[in-house]
Amino acid sequence: MTGDLEGVVATSTRLSHVDGEAGRLTIAGYAVEDLAPHARFEEVAYLLLYGRLPEPSELVRFTQDLAARRALPPAGWEVLRAAAAAQALPMDALRMVAALASLGRQEDPAEDALTAIASFPTSVGAYWRLRSRARALETYLNTVCDHGLNASTFAARVIISTRSDVISAITGAVGALKGPLHGGAPAPALDMVFEIGTPERAETVIGAKLDRGERLMGFGHRIYRVRDPRADVLAQAAQRFYASGGDQRLYHLAQQVEATALRLLRERKPERRLDTNVEFYTALLLHGLGFPAALFTPTFAVGRVVGWSAHCLEQLRDGRLIRPQSVYVGPTDLHYDRGAGPTRPQ
Ligand code: ACO
Repeated sequence: MTGDLEGVVATSTRLSHVDGEAGRLTIAGYAVEDLAPHARFEEVAYLLLYGRLPEPSELVRFTQDLAARRALPPAGWEVLRAAAAAQALPMDALRMVAALASLGRQEDPAEDALTAIASFPTSVGAYWRLRSRARALETYLNTVCDHGLNASTFAARVIISTRSDVISAITGAVGALKGPLHGGAPAPALDMVFEIGTPERAETVIGAKLDRGERLMGFGHRIYRVRDPRADVLAQAAQRFYASGGDQRLYHLAQQVEATALRLLRERKPERRLDTNVEFYTALLLHGLGFPAALFTPTFAVGRVVGWSAHCLEQLRDGRLIRPQSVYVGPTDLHYDRGAGPTRPQ
């Protein structure tokens, strides 16, 4: 017999059985391969706590009970904020906040167990949000929340000015934002950085794109004739984010791609004042945050829907029907003749 108690039976349990020889795991009577792929997590929690699977009505009540216990106490938030400021490891943050879960309540084993189960997902999710991601993502959302009468906002204002409804106006704005010349540029901007791959290739790849008459995504703007101020805000957010644990090589590559693109745009199009726009560092930041490229433009919309909504309310409050004029530049002297087709007078 060894001193580490290996093989010694210390208790009996109805919760789970590990059969190391046969490679079987039984959870409260159910084989893991039967239970795990099919059951809801709340069902399994109920099973372990009460020894049987819940009836449908019991599961509803249990799920509601957990939901009501998910909120962290204010002291928990304070601890998580302090831990995030100190860049504590997520497990350390969880250890700190777990101790506060039952703060201010009577000690009750069953209540405490439910509170712990309910609050752990909140604690872990909230901490991760508070740490690097939240600041970077909120900086991004704040940066793009509104931007004058851009194409999508204008589309929304035109629609709501007809006294249509706000949802219709916002739906129209989404359609306008989708286009690559407006909100659809970040994914191609990042593609270009990946295509370039190493700083030495920047000149060749960008030069070839300009030779082919392509536009460089993430550069140029209808209004800004200098660097888009949002590019600076996001470049700094990206720098902070990548310095706190992202792929530094990618961040430096993007900086070099930007510098080369700006130099070549100035050489090739000296009459234009083309500079970096918001999309270039948007792509880098959202990629660093773990967003797939397909979510870049939808995430833009998450920020911009605030501006669209506020513009709609402002338009409803203060505005009239938006009905601009057009200048007719077509012919005026055609005559319609069904037999002979269009003819000009002799
Ligand atoms: N790369 C290369 N050339 C460019 C670029 C660019 N990114 N942007 C403009 N040009 C050139 C055009 O080829 C055009 O030259 P040409 O007439 O000789 O062909 C000229 O500059 C047009 O310049 P502008 O009048 O300043 O551009 P416009 O106002 O028509 O377009 C736009 C602005 C759509 C943003 C344009 O710069 C572009 O296509 N950029 C790339 C897409 C992009 O990054 N879009 C995101 C914009 S930011 C936002 O909407 C949130």
